[in-house]
Amino acid sequence: MKPNHHYQDVAETYLFSNIAKKVNAYLAENPEKSVLRLGIGDVTLPLAPAVIQAMHEAVDEMGKKETFKGYGPEQGYAFLRESIQAYYARRGVSLSTDEIFVSDGAKSDCGNILDLFATENSVLVPDPVYPVYVDTNVMAGRKISYMQATKENGFLPMPDPAVKADIIYLCSPNNPTGASYTKEQLKGWVDFALENNAVILYDAAYECFVTDGACRSIFEVDGARKCAIELCSFSKTAGFTGTRCGYTVVPEELVFDGMSLRKMWLRRQTTKFNGVSYIVQKGAAAVFSEAGEKQIQENLAYYRENAKLIATCMDECGIAYTGGKNSPYIWLQCPTGMTSWEFFDYLLKEIQVVGTPGSGFGKNGEGFFRLTAFGSRETTMEACRRIKALLKK
Ligand code: MLT
Repeated sequence: MKPNHHYQDVAETYLFSNIAKKVNAYLAENPEKSVLRLGIGDVTLPLAPAVIQAMHEAVDEMGKKETFKGYGPEQGYAFLRESIQAYYARRGVSLSTDEIFVSDGAKSDCGNILDLFATENSVLVPDPVYPVYVDTNVMAGRKISYMQATKENGFLPMPDPAVKADIIYLCSPNNPTGASYTKEQLKGWVDFALENNAVILYDAAYECFVTDGACRSIFEVDGARKCAIELCSFSKTAGFTGTRCGYTVVPEELVFDGMSLRKMWLRRQTTKFNGVSYIVQKGAAAVFSEAGEKQIQENLAYYRENAKLIATCMDECGIAYTGGKNSPYIWLQCPTGMTSWEFFDYLLKEIQVVGTPGSGFGKNGEGFFRLTAFGSRETTMEACRRIKALLKK
């Protein structure tokens, strides 16, 4: 047997596992310290009451012979796909339920979707970027080119006609920078993909944070149905990071070399996936109920307020940053020319605040640092207090 040697080409540990390891090592040596974690973008508010109620009811159904469910449809129950369809329709995007695939989260789909593409395709990703796009392609032995997301272009790279690509990753609002594309900018990418017979993998996991009219779905853009797949999740929208539910939209029009990507994805999912549990899907559908939507908006407002607190803290410390507006992430420049990991170590050692080193997202992330607004209010306020005490001039 020969193992997949491409695994030698990725870092030994995944970025967020590496951070957790470092923090645990620090805590083992300093058990008396209180560490404030604003690193991984993990939510802290509990599930909305409407979600909990729906899941309790679903548990009861599973306990009765008449309503018990075995294997569900691999693509997701119709009730959830119809709710997702209606969610898009409210934003003027028309989807067929056959184009919506429920999964256990955007991260899994992000890796699994690569089953549809030949290895020789070239891949274009922004730098900095959510490391999953890069690592999953490297593991599969694909060649990656990078588009530069820098302060100069507002962290929103646009197509370079000199760079060709078959698979293009876009994430907006962006993880890690928080920058968001407008519809006009996304039109530029859609036109580029259509001209190059490329497919865009559009990560919309943070769409619920948009407040300024930026695009929330690539399908708001004309032509996107012919070149884009959208990945989305209930993790950030409704606090499902531990509950696990997401969805992927693969439009009918995506046909390459006579092969329908939608049909291929259906074939892939029916073969390799047995669907998300009924209980979780019932909870996810409750996100779109009137009560659910209201409760979820309250949670999002709470995180937005955290983002504002962190942004104000940065202003008071004279630290340049982006994000925090359409996004739960504040992307800041490390002070006094420190590298990302130096700043990580400095904050951990001096004030026990954990963030994510920008260089973990790519070479353009060097010298930057990401803080998340998904912490509790108490953690966020205390972290801001400690940061100010350390860095305010
Ligand atoms: C992050 O911190 O970038 C995210 O939580 C990672 C993820 O969504 O998997």
